[in-house]
Amino acid sequence: MEDKDKKEGILYIGIDLGTSRTSVAASNGVRETVWSYVGYPKDVVSRKLLKKDVLFGKEAVEKRLSVNLYRPFEEGIIKYKAAEDKGLTEADIEKHMSAAKDLVREALRLAKPRKDEYIYGVIGSPAQASFKNKEAIIASTKGVLDAVMVCSEPFAVAYGLELLEDTLVIDIGAGTVDLCRMHGTMPAEEDQLTLTTAGDWLDKQLMALFKKKAPNASISIHQVKDIKEKYAFVAETAEPIRVEFIESGLPTVYDITNEVREGCRMIVPPIVQAIHKLVSTFEPDFQVKLRENVLLGGGGSQIIGLGRVLEDAMQKMLGSGRVIQVDEPKYAGANGALKMAHDMPEQYWKKLG
Ligand SMILES: Nc1ncnc2c1ncn2[C@@H]1O[C@H](COP(=O)(O)OP(=O)(O)OP(=O)(O)O)[C@@H](O)[C@H]1O
Ligand SMILES: [Mg+2]
Repeated sequence: MEDKDKKEGILYIGIDLGTSRTSVAASNGVRETVWSYVGYPKDVVSRKLLKKDVLFGKEAVEKRLSVNLYRPFEEGIIKYKAAEDKGLTEADIEKHMSAAKDLVREALRLAKPRKDEYIYGVIGSPAQASFKNKEAIIASTKGVLDAVMVCSEPFAVAYGLELLEDTLVIDIGAGTVDLCRMHGTMPAEEDQLTLTTAGDWLDKQLMALFKKKAPNASISIHQVKDIKEKYAFVAETAEPIRVEFIESGLPTVYDITNEVREGCRMIVPPIVQAIHKLVSTFEPDFQVKLRENVLLGGGGSQIIGLGRVLEDAMQKMLGSGRVIQVDEPKYAGANGALKMAHDMPEQYWKKLG
């Protein structure tokens, strides 16, 4: 496959294998996204009811009472933590790996490859994923892709937008916040940081605040996530946020404006510290350019007023700061990965048997 002419038979795809959402962008024009959930019917009754062996995304969550539900990458499993750190058994890890594989297979199905095409995929990983984590990500694509390359998620975002220098990318996902400074070459280890104070962590903080406000209400983490995605904000002023929680079987209305603000603001200090670290250790002559070009992406970047709050914090800590938002946070990672797939010479690819 060294010779370019033979590449006609290759479908390139970029996959953003997110903790909460998996998106694909393919060279045949397909753009698809699915929530990163995989469900397997619990028993013969649920199998009969659901009429399939595996469910994905929203459908898996909606049918969560009838399926064993997996979020294969939650809490960094596979992606950035050593499985041993999680106290998971071999069997648990095996199940998460096979759910990850099924999810990659589903992503690929959504990309609608032709049978006679080789499939070359670039997959995003957290900025500070270890070698072992990358190996696990590659393993999850075996039997699905013909060749694979793993690249850091924030780098993929920057590459897709052709912001290859003087840019600090911050990708606020569900499992991780990934930061990467771009200076015209492939980023090195010291150019990147991964924080775990991301969307899932925020859901837990919000849950604790809501529980404090409504101690007798039963609130699910899915409900908290829905509320966050609808109302998340960090600004001083806001329209009142009123929601219904179920208390002893009865819907009760609560005003949670202050709780939402307080919770969402919790993600700011770790990000500001990380920005400070990456800017202050950069070549002095380029520090101003870097802090004037902070690019915010990922689902968490949609928190209302976040850019402004980060700018204010940078102003205080570093003298100035300017934040720009990615236009298409849903596909920025997958689009960038696809672009890399197109550009990468043959020797960068790992061929899978
Ligand atoms: N409007 C919103 N305000 C705040 N958070 C939001 C909003 N919409 C989505 N999110 C959150 O963004 C996160 C998902 O973002 P994204 O799809 O970029 O993550 P991911 O790529 O799946 O995760 P990771 O990159 O960590 O693996 C979730 O935590 C989700 O709840
Ligand atoms: Mg992501």
